[in-house]
Amino acid sequence: MTLDTRSRRFAGRTVVVTGAGSGIGRTTAIRLAGEGGRVVAVDVDGSRLEALAAEHPLLDLVTVTADLTDEDDVQAVFAAAGETVDALANVAGVMDRFLPLHELDDATWSRVMDVNVTAVMRMCRAAIVRMLPAGRGAIVNISSEAGIRGSAGGLAYTTSKHAVHGITRNCSFMYADKGIRVNTVAPGPTSGSNIDPTRGSEYGAAYIDHIQRTIMPPFARSSALAASIAWLLSDEAENVTGVLLPSDGGWSAI
Ligand SMILES: NC(=O)c1ccc[n+]([C@@H]2O[C@H](COP(=O)([O-])OP(=O)(O)OC[C@H]3O[C@@H](n4cnc5c(N)ncnc54)[C@H](O)[C@@H]3O)[C@@H](O)[C@H]2O)c1
Repeated sequence: MTLDTRSRRFAGRTVVVTGAGSGIGRTTAIRLAGEGGRVVAVDVDGSRLEALAAEHPLLDLVTVTADLTDEDDVQAVFAAAGETVDALANVAGVMDRFLPLHELDDATWSRVMDVNVTAVMRMCRAAIVRMLPAGRGAIVNISSEAGIRGSAGGLAYTTSKHAVHGITRNCSFMYADKGIRVNTVAPGPTSGSNIDPTRGSEYGAAYIDHIQRTIMPPFARSSALAASIAWLLSDEAENVTGVLLPSDGGWSAI
């Protein structure tokens, strides 16, 4: 990825990025640190974080291996971040094998909701508790095309990504006058991902693959998503809160 090293929008800021071991989260962590931020890079997969730090020794990256479905791990992330957290990007997420409701098992539902919704709520809560006394802060939560339409995932993933924007909108409403902005980015297909694309259901695949072949745009680079996230976290977006920004090559316009 080519960085515009003239841009230092995050100099002096501490930013927490989840899912920083792979894909969109990894590229976002590199982008924010490249713009001068001290980035707390979080992932459940410690080997991915080790590789990230090893590849970017000049960036200010604090790596924390944490399973964000565990509240103790969430607290460990913020202990590593320190007293002040200026921004948070909730990027970590998991898929659901595109299971329709009649084939959905409880374990898949719980796992997807735990990672994609409950962990996002906990991370936002821990961040906002620290941002309130400071009177400033910015959060971006990552949804999906599946947070906008019914034809981009299974039941659990679709529900979870709609819920992500519910967290965003309520937090935006509750904290806008406290100087805290909360927004959602909804990626379309994005390359460089390790997210599990498995189709666990012939029924689900028959519906989804047919629609996706017809209207899904080409895969975007993860740097395009990192740019959208970085902008919303930066002061350039000072007047923007509560929005869902599709960064999807126009998919949501179809
Ligand atoms: N890649 C796409 O095409 C696409 C499209 C739409 C939405 N999204 C969303 O963007 C986000 C990032 O996707 P990606 O493609 O970069 O995924 P990815 O799988 O490449 O990276 C996600 C990272 O999150 C980490 N993670 C998973 N569960 C975790 C947990 N409990 N605690 C801490 N870390 C955990 C994984 O270890 C992984 O490194 C996800 O929320 C995904 O739903 C991705």
